[in-house]
Amino acid sequence: MRSIVNAPCGWSRSLVSHRSALNSTCFSSTASLAVHANNRRLRKESSDLTATATKTRIMSGMRPTGRLHLGHYFGALLNWLEYQDKYDSYFSIVDWHALTTKYQDVKGIGGNIREIALDWLSVGIEPEVSTIYVQSAIPEIAELHLLLSMITPQNWVEREPTLKDMVKMLAADEGEAKEKVTYGLLGYPVLMTADILAFRAGLVPVGKDQESHLEFARDVAKRFNYIYGVEYFPEPQPKFTSTPLLKGLDGQKMGKSYNNDVKLADTPEDTLKKVKQAITDRTRIARADPGHTDLCEVPWPLYKIFAADILPQVKTECESATIGCVDCKTRLAGVINEFLRPVREKRAELTKDPQTVEKILAYGNAKARKVAQETLNGVRDIMGLSRWV
Ligand code: TRP
Repeated sequence: MRSIVNAPCGWSRSLVSHRSALNSTCFSSTASLAVHANNRRLRKESSDLTATATKTRIMSGMRPTGRLHLGHYFGALLNWLEYQDKYDSYFSIVDWHALTTKYQDVKGIGGNIREIALDWLSVGIEPEVSTIYVQSAIPEIAELHLLLSMITPQNWVEREPTLKDMVKMLAADEGEAKEKVTYGLLGYPVLMTADILAFRAGLVPVGKDQESHLEFARDVAKRFNYIYGVEYFPEPQPKFTSTPLLKGLDGQKMGKSYNNDVKLADTPEDTLKKVKQAITDRTRIARADPGHTDLCEVPWPLYKIFAADILPQVKTECESATIGCVDCKTRLAGVINEFLRPVREKRAELTKDPQTVEKILAYGNAKARKVAQETLNGVRDIMGLSRWV
């Protein structure tokens, strides 16, 4: 099935190596020996899965709530790119998770699934190497969510700190929370656990903000194994990126909802316009004033990521007032545009044939479903459920 799409693989290869050079610190070699050992043991016990699983399996996902930005790239995708060759990789577009908060606003989800798939593919996630799929195409995940909900203590979900933050974002006060916070949202971490365990993934590359969800998933996996006296689920370990949070153009954390991001799919013109608005050194009032890179809020940290090789030059020019902030940001926009050029080219190519993304997802869905089906066969046996279908 190597030729499901005529994706120019060489292209993404060169991009990956370009990025590794750019940010080689992002790839930490913290592969846990314990996990490897555990996985090996589990594989031995599960002959069904051994045929395909020779590498540790990793799984991660993103909600289809809009196009991705540079923060997603440095916070997650860079890791995925590094790992996709090393591990047996499953990347899910988690549309049910989007519904946990956006259940009234369902129109955009279909389009956003496509946009996320395009973003992943254009940065170099390769559909022949990684399995890219849509969560709702795998009903076994919903079944596993249901079954895990039977063994998950109620107070585990209620005390989830990430959930508390989500409730705060969704509702202004307790009254509003009563109406807006659904049973489904309460089950968010259980559903995420089902996502991971359906693939019996040993590693989960995510941002640090997902730490408590991963702990939750490990607790549920352990509890399942303990209650039924099996070693069926590995305890999924997180793999965090080492990139510091990317600043948005206003100096806050780059975020979709803060309107301070540069999207991977923005045009060069939009990028220039956005970068020109970035907050610089607030103490530099006149063009002739010398600047201070240490006080420069956004461009300087971005230069560090995108153009480490010219940092000394930028510093000298800024601090001697040889260059003004506008020109400096124009140059930075140029560097970012150059960085995103191959991503945009790849996106343009992928969108030429509207069927390409559909084909890739259909292929990934089928492949992912097979694995989840095998897992669920085992779970049903363990939980004493007869096979009626
Ligand atoms: N909760 C994750 C986020 O908000 C998305 C997610 C859902 C996920 N299921 C997952 C991430 C499984 C990793 C593994 O980013």
